[in-house]
Amino acid sequence: MNIILFGPPGAGKGTQAKRLQKSRGLIQLSTGDMLRAAVAAGTEYGKKAKEIMEKGELVPDEVVINIISDRLEEDDVKNAPGVIFDGFPRTVAQAEALDKMLAEKGMKLDAVIVLDVDDDALVERITGRFTCAKCGKGYHEKFERPKVEGVCDECGSTEFTRRADDNEETVRQRLEAYHAQTAPLIEYYEKAGIVKRVDGMASIDEVTRQIEQVLDSLS
Ligand code: AP5
Repeated sequence: MNIILFGPPGAGKGTQAKRLQKSRGLIQLSTGDMLRAAVAAGTEYGKKAKEIMEKGELVPDEVVINIISDRLEEDDVKNAPGVIFDGFPRTVAQAEALDKMLAEKGMKLDAVIVLDVDDDALVERITGRFTCAKCGKGYHEKFERPKVEGVCDECGSTEFTRRADDNEETVRQRLEAYHAQTAPLIEYYEKAGIVKRVDGMASIDEVTRQIEQVLDSLS
């Protein structure tokens, strides 16, 4: 089963993808995470991507298309029961490239799950987000605090990080990019009849429940 988790920055794509990875063994393919890893490693395209990401703009299509294409060739992905595209595709050109890639690999998209969230909620979600520096588990100052203050629930680490692009100014730019370049993809996938909507304003657990219900209806 291959799905896209679709929605604006802060909609909950990463949070839900990690839960589905655990519950269903699907592999999360987050272009944002892959780009951040390239930035941290100082690779050629990481250097180019850093500035663009910090401005809240989109990295060129050919860069992310190549990253995804290479990742789909790796053994863990090939042997998994399916993948979750998180943050990809973000433009019509990326969606068309994905269709082509999947067809070549004999794969198909089963659903595009759209997380509907009001723009007003997103700035609060993103500016309150932090992540375990060791295992990557995501938290929120208000909505998902560690059970023991300052200690990661998953791995016990006491170090946390925040993303360089998680400030209010960049979030507003990311939202603008989403509405101008990414939201039109909903119509693209509606034509294919695979769009499923969930209420992204509900609690994290309730959103998980709604997504699981959609996935159950597919299998
Ligand atoms: P990327 O890393 O993909 O960021 P994004 O799309 O902006 O999404 P986020 O990771 O910010 O949000 P999310 O939906 O995963 O929310 P989360 O679950 O963390 O991209 C970053 C940049 O990389 C882009 O700006 C671009 O430059 C570049 N890039 C990436 N992919 C690209 C592509 N394909 N093409 C071109 N450029 C690309 O949740 C947020 C917070 O809210 C968390 O703290 C969480 O705990 C909390 N939360 C989650 N759900 C709920 C809920 N239901 N209720 C209350 N709180 C919640």
